[in-house]
Amino acid sequence: MSRLDPDKQARLMIRKPLVSDVEAIRELINDSAELGKMLFRPAAELYEHLRDFHVYEQDGRVVGCCALHVYWKDLAEVKSLAVESQLRGKGIGKTLVRAALEEAGRLGVGRVFALTLETKFFENLGFERVDFDALPLKVWTDCVKCPRKDCCDETALIYSLSQDVSTT
Ligand SMILES: CC(C)(COP(=O)(O)OP(=O)(O)OC[C@H]1O[C@@H](n2cnc3c(N)ncnc32)[C@H](O)[C@@H]1OP(=O)(O)O)[C@@H](O)C(=O)NCCC(=O)NCCS
Repeated sequence: MSRLDPDKQARLMIRKPLVSDVEAIRELINDSAELGKMLFRPAAELYEHLRDFHVYEQDGRVVGCCALHVYWKDLAEVKSLAVESQLRGKGIGKTLVRAALEEAGRLGVGRVFALTLETKFFENLGFERVDFDALPLKVWTDCVKCPRKDCCDETALIYSLSQDVSTT
């Protein structure tokens, strides 16, 4: 499989979603959730939080998604990141996370965190590991509802927007 190169070309396919994209987003997330990679998100929740998302469209199909959820004036989360399995390793995930970081920058959010099993992927993008105690608001919202809260195997990572969020 060839990589999407250059990144500028890839960015042209990034866009904010329409309500008609919810079913494709739900399938992307739930396919990975079935493998234990992320949490399921019901359609109702996706409609409610649709404006958090960017989607990646290729040949008229949504093949990747990523949400940025703002928690507080200085903290947001990158969540619900998924790329269609056959299209992984082409830079789509990286492009989606960078779009979320750019949006955080536009909103004035200083730090963006991720809770993930894909530690290396996020470290490659400049995220740094932190202790869960650094994320008090997150712990009191999503984590208390998570079925894996007593056996959490995810790593917490944070990206500081004072770093250069370069997309070139
Ligand atoms: C994690 C995921 C989104 C990555 O998307 P992707 O499009 O395959 O990733 P990219 O092609 O943009 O990879 C970007 C870089 O990270 C690396 N990378 C990707 N997945 C990786 C992994 N699992 N472990 C280590 N490195 C990884 C790539 O090699 C690439 O490195 P490079 O820039 O040096 O070439 C995708 O594998 C996926 O959808 N996984 C299932 C759902 C999931 O786990 N989501 C994360 C929930 S927080």
